[in-house]
Amino acid sequence: MVTKLLTHQPVFKQLQSLATGLPHIKDLFRSDPDRAESMWVESDIFCLDISKQRVTREILDALEALFYQSEVPSAVDRLFSGEVVNFSEGRAALHTQLRVPSEKQGSEFLDVELQLQKMERLVDEIHQGIRRGFSGKAITDVVNLGVGGSDLGPLMASVALREFASPSARKIQVHFASTIDGSQLFELLEHLNPETTLFLIASKSFTTIDTLSNADTARAWLKKVCPDEGLMLRCHFIGISAVAERMSSWGIPESNQLIFWDWVGGRFSLWSTVGCSIALSLGCSAFRALLAGAHDMDLHFRSRPPLENIPVLMALLGVWNVNFLGIKTHAILPYDGRLKFFPPFLQQLEMESNGKSVTQDGISVDYDTSPILWGDVGANAQHAFYQLLHQGTQSVGSDFILAANRYDDFQQHTHYNELAAQHELNIANCLAQSKVFAFGGDLDSSNPFRCYPGNQPSSTLLLNRLDPYSLGALIACYEHKVFTQAVLWGINPFDQWGVELGKEVALKLRSIDYSGVDDDIDSSTRALARKVAAFRETRPLSDRG
Ligand code: F6P
Repeated sequence: MVTKLLTHQPVFKQLQSLATGLPHIKDLFRSDPDRAESMWVESDIFCLDISKQRVTREILDALEALFYQSEVPSAVDRLFSGEVVNFSEGRAALHTQLRVPSEKQGSEFLDVELQLQKMERLVDEIHQGIRRGFSGKAITDVVNLGVGGSDLGPLMASVALREFASPSARKIQVHFASTIDGSQLFELLEHLNPETTLFLIASKSFTTIDTLSNADTARAWLKKVCPDEGLMLRCHFIGISAVAERMSSWGIPESNQLIFWDWVGGRFSLWSTVGCSIALSLGCSAFRALLAGAHDMDLHFRSRPPLENIPVLMALLGVWNVNFLGIKTHAILPYDGRLKFFPPFLQQLEMESNGKSVTQDGISVDYDTSPILWGDVGANAQHAFYQLLHQGTQSVGSDFILAANRYDDFQQHTHYNELAAQHELNIANCLAQSKVFAFGGDLDSSNPFRCYPGNQPSSTLLLNRLDPYSLGALIACYEHKVFTQAVLWGINPFDQWGVELGKEVALKLRSIDYSGVDDDIDSSTRALARKVAAFRETRPLSDRG
């Protein structure tokens, strides 16, 4: 199948012409004051307001034509049916299958439920204090060792939903260590008790040096107090991978191995046993609710027509901003401190998926693909980078994310009134900022320093409340947005060859002798490496205070 380039779609030129002479957002509202009503999509889970995007009804209709000309519906069918959609690796991408309710699961996917049940047994044994450390003490702390998709999703969800943790889940603390330099482990091993600490080694390939180096350090830390390696491995390590034999050769007993499959992409894997840390943080019922929310978003994605389909609209607007308005950067602004890891999670989901420049057939594209994605908790970002968004020279697209209800489960809290009042402030700030981004305004029109040009496009995702179910739906919504954009751009969102070369060069640089001259090593790398060595020679260990 030859993938069509975006620029070769029949409607492309019409969209280009619609992008010229587009009125300011405030003028779009002036000519249609009730604009928001026609640019608003409700689902059972959350609403999407796109009225502050730089689009007209005519543009949306043209984008809908692009959706059909790009044959998105048949691509979606191929995705959900398990066909090969990841051409360069010859794989399916069936993360959606992981959240199909067990009673609806197909016979060929019984292993999905079996692995989830094995995971749930392990989680319950830890929560009930049945699974104990080598000295017989109950587990108090779990450390997830993983990176990328084996870290970002589980970390994000565990932090976002900690207030929903079950009483038994609250008995343990779940920590995350991902960084190859050992900085997180260094911190954790200072105060954790090896007798009561269990490690999850989460790695789809079980070859990622970041994770395996953290695992080796953890193993050495435990071996110091438990010389019986077999006992130590049985009591303190659980492996989560798509490659069982590598877990076994590392020493993890089969009873401590949780499996997932090569048709689950790393950045799409939190729904699988990679979600073990989420289940440990929250409890198994919350994890199942996360799956249920994602599944219901799958149903929304597959059933709604494009202009009433939240992920599809977000995808089309993203392509409109990047490819027709030339807006190359996109900010994720959750107005909820619990979502502080949502932007970094989406950075991998979006930029590792769609940061591509060749089509599924290996043809170079002649247009931009993924925008640069970034962001932070919105109310904090107001004190960090909003100045640029309001009065800088860059056009930036944004997603505002807000939960209408907050603290409603804490009405008995000592400070419920104060916290509720803070949430009101938070809501006001979210609405105010998207308004000023769009309409601009002048505090003093005679003072050029106090003028706000506005016309920064944004969408607002409004949730009733943030809970395991709605977070599952929100994550799945972005997964489907990413997939839809990949189809529109004709690229493969499921491989990540771009990260392989760096890994190879890093491994080579580890063993280079910089004192000599190696043609393969450029003068910058050689000079830097030599200076590193010089710094390390001149500063004796005893010097460190
Ligand atoms: O960044 C490259 C990558 O392969 C990601 O796609 C993946 O999530 C991460 O490294 C970790 O890979 P693994 O789960 O195999 O350790």
